[in-house]
Amino acid sequence: MQFRSDNAGPVHPRVLAALGQANSGYAPSYGTDALTARVTERVRALFEAPEAAVYLVPTGTSANALLLATMARPWQAIFSHEVAHVAVDECGAPVFFADGATLITVGGKSGKMSPEALQTAMSATGNGDVHAIQPGPATITQITETGQIYQLSEIRALYEVTRGHGQKLHMDGSRFSNAIAASGATPAEMTWKSGVSALSFGGTKNGLMGAECAILFDPECAWEFELRRKRSAHLFSKHRYLAAQFDAYLTDDLWLETARAANANMARLVDGLSRIPGVGIIDRPAANMLYLTMSRRAHRAAFEAGALYELAPFYAPLDGDMDEILKARLVCDWSLEDAEIDRFIALVAQIA
Ligand SMILES: Cc1ncc(COP(=O)(O)O)c(C=O)c1O
Repeated sequence: MQFRSDNAGPVHPRVLAALGQANSGYAPSYGTDALTARVTERVRALFEAPEAAVYLVPTGTSANALLLATMARPWQAIFSHEVAHVAVDECGAPVFFADGATLITVGGKSGKMSPEALQTAMSATGNGDVHAIQPGPATITQITETGQIYQLSEIRALYEVTRGHGQKLHMDGSRFSNAIAASGATPAEMTWKSGVSALSFGGTKNGLMGAECAILFDPECAWEFELRRKRSAHLFSKHRYLAAQFDAYLTDDLWLETARAANANMARLVDGLSRIPGVGIIDRPAANMLYLTMSRRAHRAAFEAGALYELAPFYAPLDGDMDEILKARLVCDWSLEDAEIDRFIALVAQIA
């Protein structure tokens, strides 16, 4: 009953097989190998962006931080939602790698930045005042940290705000594949056609061993990104092993297959849980992440029976009033078995 994180799931066998295949003989290092060149072309084709600069890095934090550092100057502010991973879960990495740029958070429902809040926050910076922080790029998370999807019109509205301030829009697409699988939009429509300049295209949560793709649709800053990646110690020498993972990911649309499976697992879970009176579903999930409420008693019983998921916040105490309602986050990955999902639903039906 594994609902803790899609990070906790296994590597897809086709990815492991691709790593095995790549593990033969010698290949040029630091991204100059043929497999990396092939992945670059495949990513460009997938995103209908023949000029895009495409880079592989080992973590989502490095993709986000290095892209944002490339997009922002040290005297600028980076704007994110207040629950964004970049703001609360990256130990200050974007600010660190962006040479001290400021991070300003803004609000909005369902983890989505509201254009009005972004406009207000951006307008409060700069204005020709040498004493002030200047406006910089904004970043949005797709799917959001609360499991919702930005519609294309919502992305475009945020882009218009950033553009009005001469700035660009970044997307943390740690679960980008889940958003594409759920929405039916094309990768191009969800990114550069809606005004996104740079994307962190996630792989690790969706079946890879540890590889993320940083894409600059506007390649004018490509060299700066390359220098930042090296200087921050994120340029892999045996780069073919990052490339082999992404090559497998893009072959026969594995990235979509695993994302669809993860989303379908979540749909099955929500379908079952939403019929149980003691369970409150918060914002019906659009992809593979769910927030729900149950009593502390029910959570305790679930954990004692071996269910794995996180309370929200994760440090919420398990001791206290047993009737108190506590929030929790559940995530489904592609590999979950139907029987495990059903076992959890049956358990919750008894204890909630
Ligand atoms: C929304 C989001 N962005 C980025 C990341 C990247 O994380 P990591 O650096 O752990 O690969 C995560 C991981 O949990 C995430 O949930």
